[in-house]
Amino acid sequence: MNTDINTLFENLWQAYIKVTPTATKIHKLLGSTQQDDIINDHIALRTFSHPKVNIDVLAKHFEVLGYYEAEQYHFKEKKLYAKHFEHKDKTKPKVFISELDMSQFPLSIQNEINHLVSQVLNDDVKTDDFLYSGRHWKLDYRTYKILLEHSEYAAWLAVWGFIPNHFTVSINHLKNFDTIQQVNDKLKEAGFVLNDSGGEIKGSKEVLLEQSSTIADKVLVDFTDWEKEVPSCFYEFALRYPKDDGELYSGFVQANANDIFDSTNSR
Ligand code: NI
Repeated sequence: MNTDINTLFENLWQAYIKVTPTATKIHKLLGSTQQDDIINDHIALRTFSHPKVNIDVLAKHFEVLGYYEAEQYHFKEKKLYAKHFEHKDKTKPKVFISELDMSQFPLSIQNEINHLVSQVLNDDVKTDDFLYSGRHWKLDYRTYKILLEHSEYAAWLAVWGFIPNHFTVSINHLKNFDTIQQVNDKLKEAGFVLNDSGGEIKGSKEVLLEQSSTIADKVLVDFTDWEKEVPSCFYEFALRYPKDDGELYSGFVQANANDIFDSTNSR
């Protein structure tokens, strides 16, 4: 496991931008007018509820670096469960990890997923690079389509495996933008497409968190039987508001997150 937070996040970022060319362009666009780098509010990782690779297994890589569990979330309709983790050093990015609750799917789907996870070696989950090691199993396009019929999330995870699903620009730390609308306008003006599931802006000042995101890039993937373009990762933007005690709200809003998941829909 990694022993340095900055190295871990740098490696995660490299794996992420490799399949998310949009993120590199937007990073440049929003960062071009400020001296220091863009601050990352949080990253998100996805996994299956299988005990070999579930949230707790992924979380260990952060816990050894001083992260602790902060909150839990249930996304009933999407059959997902999630936790978010924070570091005592509040300048470190938050980490949002979700898992597909396999028990809520038909046995045939559970079997498909078990077959994928069976190809992950026990030792793999402990290596330094596990969180950005990608897919550990063979995947044909037929299986991808079957999973897709049941869950966009399951299909995405089957293709990409273990890489960050998104990084998130902290609007609070952008020098030239005060509102999320300004950021959205700038992105749209430059030709980027935003996820409009539930509206382009998710959340409000009242729930202390506003978020928006691009729709995922599409990348050509080598399945065992076909080459096909499928959604990869997206970039998110978050503006946090202060709580009564003056500290910025550090949690996540269930309804926002539910719509953000749709950023990787294959539509
Ligand atoms: Ni997010």
